[in-house]
Amino acid sequence: KSLKKMGEESKHVAHCLVLAYPAQGHINPMIEFSKRLIQRGLKITLVSTVSFWNTTTPHTLKSLSSSDPQNIQVESISDGYDNGGLAAAESLEIYKETFWKVGPRTLSNLIQKLASNNNPVDCVICDGFLYWALDVAKDEFGILGALFFTQPCAVNNIYFHVYKKWLELPLSESEYLIPGLPKLAASELPSFLYDYGSYPGYFDIIRNQFCNIHKADWVLANTFYELESQVVNWLKEIWPLKTIGPCVPSMYLDKRLLHDNDYGVSIYDQNIDSCIKWLNDKTKGSVVYVSFGSMAGLTEKQTEELAFGLKESDCYFLWVVRDCDHAKIPKWFLETNDSEKGLVVTWCPQLLVLTHDAVGCFLTHCGWNSTLEAICFGVPTIAMPLWTDQITNAKHIKDVWKMGVRVDADEKGLVRRESIGNCIKEILESEKGNEIKNNALKWRNLAKDSVDEGGSSDQNITEFVAKLAQLCS
Ligand code: UDX
Repeated sequence: KSLKKMGEESKHVAHCLVLAYPAQGHINPMIEFSKRLIQRGLKITLVSTVSFWNTTTPHTLKSLSSSDPQNIQVESISDGYDNGGLAAAESLEIYKETFWKVGPRTLSNLIQKLASNNNPVDCVICDGFLYWALDVAKDEFGILGALFFTQPCAVNNIYFHVYKKWLELPLSESEYLIPGLPKLAASELPSFLYDYGSYPGYFDIIRNQFCNIHKADWVLANTFYELESQVVNWLKEIWPLKTIGPCVPSMYLDKRLLHDNDYGVSIYDQNIDSCIKWLNDKTKGSVVYVSFGSMAGLTEKQTEELAFGLKESDCYFLWVVRDCDHAKIPKWFLETNDSEKGLVVTWCPQLLVLTHDAVGCFLTHCGWNSTLEAICFGVPTIAMPLWTDQITNAKHIKDVWKMGVRVDADEKGLVRRESIGNCIKEILESEKGNEIKNNALKWRNLAKDSVDEGGSSDQNITEFVAKLAQLCS
């Protein structure tokens, strides 16, 4: 090759269109991954739906498109419900049907528009939920395509087994042995496998994530090799899989440069100062942080049991109850609660909270982002899963990674105050709690190593970027 030709080649900056499913827990890791690609010189256009961008706080879009070096271009496609999104649809099933028709068309228009603006797309990286984007990339435009899984490989492998019908539904066994995974009781599988009739729309999306996986140039997973090595080894035999997580900002891993602008998007307003000021007064490791993520809520009865559990354990607690669930908090609690002892907020800067020295444990629903964040910051966990992948994540937290305990539910599925209180005591006060803390710190170090220079995820991203550059030149 002539020098001139090589020089020309090196000038091409690969352009990835990153398409995120419109939900908090899906967009956060994709933004963080996008930032890592930008740091390595790639151009990124981050795409979600018109309706989703409208629900994020103005702060979000400002922080994404500000003129810092991590500048991300933001674009939209339509889900057919530009005013209101899922909330404006009659049901998830109808929303999905419309989105699946309108989304591919508007994505295709967007790719054409970018090409005609002299900004052609080289690769589409789409959330596994929006698998149809891979068809648009490969079949319509002949460009590169990657599926991005926002949930753990363990869970994706279970769903893949369902898709392949290697795992038959309805569940009939009491235990399941799936390659790369520990033996799982039926009740430890993702809830959609025994409750799919209640959520046909979500179940359909989840099962079909694999329908065109053979077209993917890469399968990217928000996890790290050391955390899920056995299942990753197994899946790598059948998918072009690269683990690229945890998609949590590396500056947080170093507890440096903590700033709210550095992470994800926020669909809720948060009062950063009041949470952090409150935590600043508390002694090291004394606070229980309680949050159930951005989607599922507790029942009224469960909220009351939790309120009793927190009160009776006599610990400091920071409890996130979103606006939509606020009415479920019992009156007696609101009237008697001393906010110096227990602060209730509608949303908080979770990364800042988890990295705060005052936090001693995280009572969590085990959403995958919250799980990874707890791992990244070495925070011991009380697992209280509600639905979907959270059930299987909780199993791993307690029995595989041994970095937490799990609450018990009674025969009606209610987690009693005693169980919550016992778990808090176990983590904060017992000898076993110290073992769990040490395990949490072990995982924290492994997570950090994986994204540090030369670590497993860092290397995988390097290989991905190099291959992309080679294929696009
Ligand atoms: C959903 C599903 O529930 C989860 O099981 C799946 O793995 C991903 O999609 P969600 O319920 O929102 O996610 O939970 P999670 O994955 O934990 O994501 C929540 C995100 O919101 C985290 O990144 C967390 O840091 C952030 N958060 C949460 C805040 O910033 N502030 C809060 O007060 C609560």
